[in-house]
Amino acid sequence: MILTGKAKIAGVVGWPVSHSLSPRLHGYWLEQYGIDGAYIPLAVAPDNVTEVIRGLPKMGFAGINVTVPHKEAAFRAVDETDETAQRMGAVNTITVGADGKLTGSNTDGFGFMAHLGATISNWKAGPVTMLGAGGAARGICRSLIDAGVPEIRLSNRTRARAETLAAEFEGRLVVCDWSEKEAALDGATLLVNTTTLGMAGADALDIDLSGFPETAPVYDIVYTPRVTPLLRQAAERGNPTIEGLGMLLHQARPGFAAWFGIEPEVTPALRDFVLESLA
Ligand code: ATR
Repeated sequence: MILTGKAKIAGVVGWPVSHSLSPRLHGYWLEQYGIDGAYIPLAVAPDNVTEVIRGLPKMGFAGINVTVPHKEAAFRAVDETDETAQRMGAVNTITVGADGKLTGSNTDGFGFMAHLGATISNWKAGPVTMLGAGGAARGICRSLIDAGVPEIRLSNRTRARAETLAAEFEGRLVVCDWSEKEAALDGATLLVNTTTLGMAGADALDIDLSGFPETAPVYDIVYTPRVTPLLRQAAERGNPTIEGLGMLLHQARPGFAAWFGIEPEVTPALRDFVLESLA
């Protein structure tokens, strides 16, 4: 990579940031499209994150991504937020305007839906069963409701957390007990796992899929390992499966387009390149 003095600069702030796949992902696109630009990891401690974000225009940054644990702090630090960020109270993408103004948005829900659409082109929005009620679940619920999903059956180990989330969605979210999550599979058109179960080092998700329609896809947002025990179980009974890595790749598209001026593509070669670093 050879930069000129006019290179556009972006990056990702996180703490820690060493696990982030974003530099590799954006670096691939920068090289593929021959862009005079760089995307760098920025390890920023919580005490410094507001100062760093406010300093971006002064250093000539085009923008940044924001990852754990800074998404809420970023929401407060920017000058303005778009509707997706406001709904979530969290920002994962910041753009620096020509006037130096910082705009925050949230592309997690976009990434989830774009990957769903790219994998299952004819998916029809019907009832969805969702496991987990953390930060990821909120954005995904919002984008599913926006896509016309009539009902989300939400099951979380800590029921109170699911009820808090359901209260934000005026009746479209129905809470089911964690011990009765199988009952929520009947007639569903999609099963989504947003819990950390199935992640390398964590327990597998223990669920009986026999009541779940065989034509409906199973979407696991866990991407280490690429094929989780849940996805394997689903594939074995013939359900279409959707791997979590695609959500990460697609959520990166709007930021790249805003900073570097090219709409990047998610391709199998990109997926393989990012996966190499997980192996
Ligand atoms: P994120 O913001 O990325 O979604 P999170 O807020 O830590 O991450 O949420 C993790 C999710 O995994 C939660 O729904 C959590 O359930 P609780 O709300 O009960 O904590 C779920 N989770 C984690 N470990 C679990 C386990 N052993 N069994 C069931 N659910 C689990």
